[in-house]
Amino acid sequence: MKSLHPDLARVILSETEIQARVKALAEQISADYASAERIYLIGILKGAFIFLADLCRHLTIPHTVDFMSVSSYGKAGSISGAVRLMLDLRDPILDEHVIIVEDIVDSGHTLDYINHTLKGRNPASLRTCVLLEKKRESLEVPIDYLGFTIPDVWVVGYGLDFADTHRTLPFVAELNRQVYQR
Ligand code: IMP
Ligand code: MG
Repeated sequence: MKSLHPDLARVILSETEIQARVKALAEQISADYASAERIYLIGILKGAFIFLADLCRHLTIPHTVDFMSVSSYGKAGSISGAVRLMLDLRDPILDEHVIIVEDIVDSGHTLDYINHTLKGRNPASLRTCVLLEKKRESLEVPIDYLGFTIPDVWVVGYGLDFADTHRTLPFVAELNRQVYQR
């Protein structure tokens, strides 16, 4: 096996585990929305782009993809409540069956902000699909489709980054504490 990059402490989720779970989530979503005309997947950039790309290719129901980008004040490992909209959707979502696709829920502020923002645009329905949830006290945000619960550490890979590094690894790994605390 290739050795891990020195920034990384250990692999938390292997490529095989992730791929199997993403396929299962897509099957669940396809079954739940079997009678819908189409669903509207909204990926939150940048972190969710790889998850969304894999998820949507396993769907067996009609779907549309769009993106939003938000930024939260504060850096890796810190908690911040302030979320700012950086890039909005191209089109209205009125009367659409919307699923927000997010990489990770930590404090929950980001997902809570997006959920509230999109609810105000009157979609036919609104759910959330999140790859990772950290095991710790978070805001009460509803996660309808969850990939994995992970320990409260900084993780990278499969879309997740640290200062834009390690984002395209096929697995999810824990970042060494010295890297984000230096
Ligand atoms: P929250 O608002 O605290 O829930 O943070 C959510 C956002 O912070 C996610 O959309 C990620 O962009 C980022 N984030 C939180 N934890 C991690 C992590 O461990 N690795 C990479 N990004 C993270
Ligand atoms: Mg994100």
